[in-house]
Amino acid sequence: MSEKVYPVSGDWAKRAWVDQAKYQAMYADSVKDPASFWGEQGKRIDWIKPYTKVKDVSYAPGAVSIKWFEDGQTNVALNCVDRHLATRGDQTAIIWEGDDPNESKLITYRQLHEEVCRFANVLKAHGVKKGDRVTIYLPMIPEAAYAMLACARVGAIHSIVFGGFSPDSLASRIEDAASAVVITADEGLRGGRKVPLKANVDAAADKVDCLKTVLVVRRTGGSIAMKEGRDVWYDEAAAKASTDCPVEPMNAEDPLFLLYTSGSTGKPKGVVHTTGGYLVYAAMTHQYVFDYHYGDVYWCTADVGWVTGHSYIVYGPLANGATTLMFEGIPTYPSISRFWDVVDKHKVNIFYTAPTAIRSLMAAGEEPVKKTSRASLRLLGSVGEPINPEAWEWYYRVVGDNRCPIVDTWWQTETGGILISPLPGATAQKPGSATLPFFGVQPQVVDAEGKVLEGPCEGNLVIADSWPGQMRTVYGDHQRFMETYFATYPNKYFTGDGCRRDADGYYWITGRVDDVINVSGHRMGTAEVESALVAHPKVSEAAVVGYPHDIKGQGIYAYVTLMTGEEPTEALRKELVTWVRKEIGPIASPDLIQFAPGLPKTRSGKIMRRILRKIAEDEFGSLGDTSTLADPGVVNDLIDNRQNKR
Ligand code: WTA
Repeated sequence: MSEKVYPVSGDWAKRAWVDQAKYQAMYADSVKDPASFWGEQGKRIDWIKPYTKVKDVSYAPGAVSIKWFEDGQTNVALNCVDRHLATRGDQTAIIWEGDDPNESKLITYRQLHEEVCRFANVLKAHGVKKGDRVTIYLPMIPEAAYAMLACARVGAIHSIVFGGFSPDSLASRIEDAASAVVITADEGLRGGRKVPLKANVDAAADKVDCLKTVLVVRRTGGSIAMKEGRDVWYDEAAAKASTDCPVEPMNAEDPLFLLYTSGSTGKPKGVVHTTGGYLVYAAMTHQYVFDYHYGDVYWCTADVGWVTGHSYIVYGPLANGATTLMFEGIPTYPSISRFWDVVDKHKVNIFYTAPTAIRSLMAAGEEPVKKTSRASLRLLGSVGEPINPEAWEWYYRVVGDNRCPIVDTWWQTETGGILISPLPGATAQKPGSATLPFFGVQPQVVDAEGKVLEGPCEGNLVIADSWPGQMRTVYGDHQRFMETYFATYPNKYFTGDGCRRDADGYYWITGRVDDVINVSGHRMGTAEVESALVAHPKVSEAAVVGYPHDIKGQGIYAYVTLMTGEEPTEALRKELVTWVRKEIGPIASPDLIQFAPGLPKTRSGKIMRRILRKIAEDEFGSLGDTSTLADPGVVNDLIDNRQNKR
């Protein structure tokens, strides 16, 4: 662990919304009387009908219920678009930077309003009503933001599926949400390569019954099949649509979106976020954590297919009337300087990315960074996984020229917004620590039995009480919601993360303690990869664990037992990797596959993952107690044939 401390500079303490004294005072208020604190904060958005109740939350076992601002009415599009027209209609809302560096576009709030209304009218013309689920499978083009806001405008619930997911993964998400409408593009464009989005939708459509309409945005003009009666070109429908569309009044607790995310068991869950609390929380964290002031150019490099894109490309920034940059491409195309070229081109002030991107750029050395100016940068952010101190220092020194604080933001799809992070004018940073809780957030560290630990300690991270951005339920399965997050430690939200707290009260997230692995900042359930592998006809059994990976943070290590008589060949290894990519998507590709004649099991037949993890981590000297194994001999074979020998 790094012992270095980077204090807040005098300039930052002066310019920021919040300095240390203000942080401490506001934090104390926020936990002493949450209803009064959030009652005030709720006013940062416009309400169609003001709320009179602020917080109504129970974490009680079997009766978890979370409501914020429950009798208020508002609309997210009203807040992200319409309310800015009077004051900043001609200000740029979205800077779009294409995959090709010669392609970019500025969209003002007034243009955004027109586009969102037009899109909303197209949705209505295709029968979309309040409460309907609309699946969005789009690349990083402005239409992704228009589509999200159009759903919000008419009261439809969007479910975005990341463009890297396979037709199967897309189909199961369409089906779970029972979506009648999918919005996609002919093809996506990333790093100069085309992504067959419409073809993937066609393949997914064969597997579901609920789908009636596919709206297709023209992006590349590549040739695709259009199915009569189902598929509609968006530009043709939009040409006939009016740019006038009233907003649907929504209750604060009406769902805004579903977002599927991986857990330790079963299929991905539809995380449900609602309207009022989510927006208040996304807007407030965006303002304070990134210290956003009007006129700043803000860039979050995430994809809108992940929660970071929802809260910190679209909803938080636009609710704040910000200028938000949306990037279609990848950090290494057409050159490894691309991020910094874009920073210089659009004079980006605030830059928010993931540790995996930093580590991969770091591997190419300083020169591609140093040859760019980056003089506009003022603040850097990190999200998605723990940032190792070495990458933190490089980010700070090379990218930020020792001038820009780094906000290491810890949060989850489930939390809706950032829960633990430095505030740049208030919090001294320690490389590798997400530091201190945001307003209203009450982290606790508990041991395996649920005992709340005091002072410096290490254990599992729970949150003792609700905040407005918290997920409300798992779509269609409230029981699963309660079991996943509130059963391990009764009356507390369990994050699934391990963590350490130091003598200054700083939190250091150590990673997942469940069967979820974090590959390049993307969450992957080991059970999902295992079920994809055993679906292959030659595979009898599979066990998947994470192992340390220099660039990805964690890599996917699969132990595979073949059907009797099948040969463990190199060709089969490749075939299995291709198979998993096809079943789930490229982000789930196993990095290492070890063919194992047998897996370590207890006498009752339970796979001992602890042992498999140790072997994958190359720590076979500390396997722990193996006396409960049914056949201790399998372990020696696994060690002899382990794949990531150092
Ligand atoms: C991990 C992404 C350490 C963590 C917003 C969490 C982090 C999971 C950090 C959620 C961070 C995210 N430091 N770990 N700054 N940010 N994580 O749902 O394990 O895709 O539980 O949300 O990522 O991933 P998700």
